[in-house]
Amino acid sequence: MKGRRPRPLDDGDSGEVRVSGHLSWAKPIENKRAFCLIQRATIVFMGIISNCTESAIKQAATSLISGNLVAFPTETVYGLGADATNESAIARIYAVKGRPTGHPLIVHISSIAHLDKWARDIPEYAMKLARSFWPGPMTLILPRTDLAKDFITGSQDNVGIRIPSHTVALELLKEFEAQGGAGLAAPSANRFGAVSPTSAKAVEIELDNFLDSSDRILDGGSCQVGIESTIINCTYKSASILRPGFITKKMIEETLGSTISSDYVYKLNKQVKAPGSHASHYSPKARVLLTGQPQNGDGLIALDKVNTPKGVIRLASPLNTNEYAFMLYEAFRKADSLGIKKIFAILTEEDEISLAIKDRLVRANSKNII
Ligand code: TXA
Ligand code: MG
Repeated sequence: MKGRRPRPLDDGDSGEVRVSGHLSWAKPIENKRAFCLIQRATIVFMGIISNCTESAIKQAATSLISGNLVAFPTETVYGLGADATNESAIARIYAVKGRPTGHPLIVHISSIAHLDKWARDIPEYAMKLARSFWPGPMTLILPRTDLAKDFITGSQDNVGIRIPSHTVALELLKEFEAQGGAGLAAPSANRFGAVSPTSAKAVEIELDNFLDSSDRILDGGSCQVGIESTIINCTYKSASILRPGFITKKMIEETLGSTISSDYVYKLNKQVKAPGSHASHYSPKARVLLTGQPQNGDGLIALDKVNTPKGVIRLASPLNTNEYAFMLYEAFRKADSLGIKKIFAILTEEDEISLAIKDRLVRANSKNII
């Protein structure tokens, strides 16, 4: 298959029902439920909040067609959306995020039916993954078509594609496509190197000074997964994981009936980073420590069963690793808003979701060890 190896993940900045089982992501969303959720969502328009009705989604899609930015919820984190075929809109994404140019962006579409607009020579195993986990928290890296320009792919011959399952995201994508759009580029809606936002308020705090009056933030509540999508490289004969997430290695292997490799850019326990790979990401202002004993005034994120030492500020008490992922970024933000200097993010549980969480913790921590 043609195409250079996908560039190592280097963005560094990395719902509606609480996560209960992976199969829910594979199920199509019922229209009735989708409608209710849109009713409940709101639109933030430079400080003005109104109900995010069908007409608000339509307006947001029209605004995107005109080249403006719209931040929107997905089941993973909030994305900063722009028309993926509009070079100047994409340039604004880089400017608003303060992200160095040349880092590829994920293109979001509403349906597998639109996949071949963006990707070609799609391997059968990739189609299997697409059918199993989309809409859902998974991004596939595929050989690109001519529609995926260099300004989206960072001049690589491949493109990242995702179909999100959050109802507001899907409705926005459908409306955008109905108005003639082909796909929305959407990196996480945070400044480069910072923590991905999992609520509309967090987007506002993060980007308010950088968005302009024609940009919008769609509010669809808290993101139910809480960490970014699993990214799978599908440009070789077999799949490999570039970024771990809620769609786990085991789930992928069960779907494909074969083992796959993981290709992260750091070694989990050794905290080694490849030079130039921007291992430091997802970072709050506070130092993040993965081990050790928190002292008076330090923050603590740990499973509920872990006690809070006297004087330590408890930031989150998740019951399990799914909840840990769901609460992590909000807990980072809370620590920063309280002016906490050190966050102890303790994760003793060893399961597949904990691998994805540790990926983010190691990167958040690596800011301090560079
Ligand atoms: O959950 C998510 O994936 C969120 C939501 C909004 O969809 N998006 C997100 O995008 O996390 P971003 O840009 O913050 O992170 C995407 C990562 C970046 O590290 C980028 O370099 C990498 O994916 N990426 C995108 N396209 C790629 C490609 N063609 N090859 C290799 N890496 C790619
Ligand atoms: Mg990001």
